[in-house]
Amino acid sequence: MSLSIDEVNRLKHAPGVDGVLPLFHSRWSPRSFSDREVSSADIEKVFEAARWAASSFNEQPWRFLAGTRNSPAYKKIFDSLMPFNQLWAVSAPVLILGVAKTTFSHNGNPNRVALYDLGAAASYLTLQAAAIGLATHQMAGFDQDAARKTFGIPDDYLFGAVIALGYQGEPSALANEQFVAQEVAPRQRKPLKEFVFSSWGTPASI
Ligand SMILES: Cc1cc2nc3c(=O)[nH]c(=O)nc-3n(C[C@H](O)[C@H](O)[C@H](O)COP(=O)(O)O)c2cc1C
Repeated sequence: MSLSIDEVNRLKHAPGVDGVLPLFHSRWSPRSFSDREVSSADIEKVFEAARWAASSFNEQPWRFLAGTRNSPAYKKIFDSLMPFNQLWAVSAPVLILGVAKTTFSHNGNPNRVALYDLGAAASYLTLQAAAIGLATHQMAGFDQDAARKTFGIPDDYLFGAVIALGYQGEPSALANEQFVAQEVAPRQRKPLKEFVFSSWGTPASI
């Protein structure tokens, strides 16, 4: 049985909670992308959202390498992906690689929260994408050494994730049964009591 895009989105939608922005519950990470291109204006919008993330000392340590299909940057990012990610990410029209500068510009000291700040910017990016009808899927499964070499990324930059960006595609278009099964599986999360504590391991009484 194959579900339509609308059916899958309904199934992936987490139960809403009053007063929480609906986007947090509707955003999810598909593996199937349609062949519709993303406009330059919309690509700019997702980076504009990332731009306004908070960061330690306002360092803004995030850097993004981005490419649209058939561009040299796209090919470099795609080639660095692990084969199991290449299998589905091949349908994404935009690929983005996030890296973080691990030293502060104002004094050269180590910035131990650089990856934290990159993650915040990436989250803004994914939510802005969802707000304008775009899908994102982040990937840790790529060869960092290959990406560093092919882009000439300096040693003091750490890698975050690759982000596939595009319009969601039909689940049935995926390459194999495992991907289809993941595409139509409901999303799971830990309850708050498992990660909001008042003392270590004790759920906070909030
Ligand atoms: C940093 C990071 C790395 C991830 N790496 C991969 C990956 O290499 N391959 C993949 O298929 N999904 C990857 N994912 C997607 C997660 O599996 C997915 O976000 C998670 O299961 C929650 O699903 P949701 O985003 O649909 O809510 C990654 C997500 C993040 C945030």
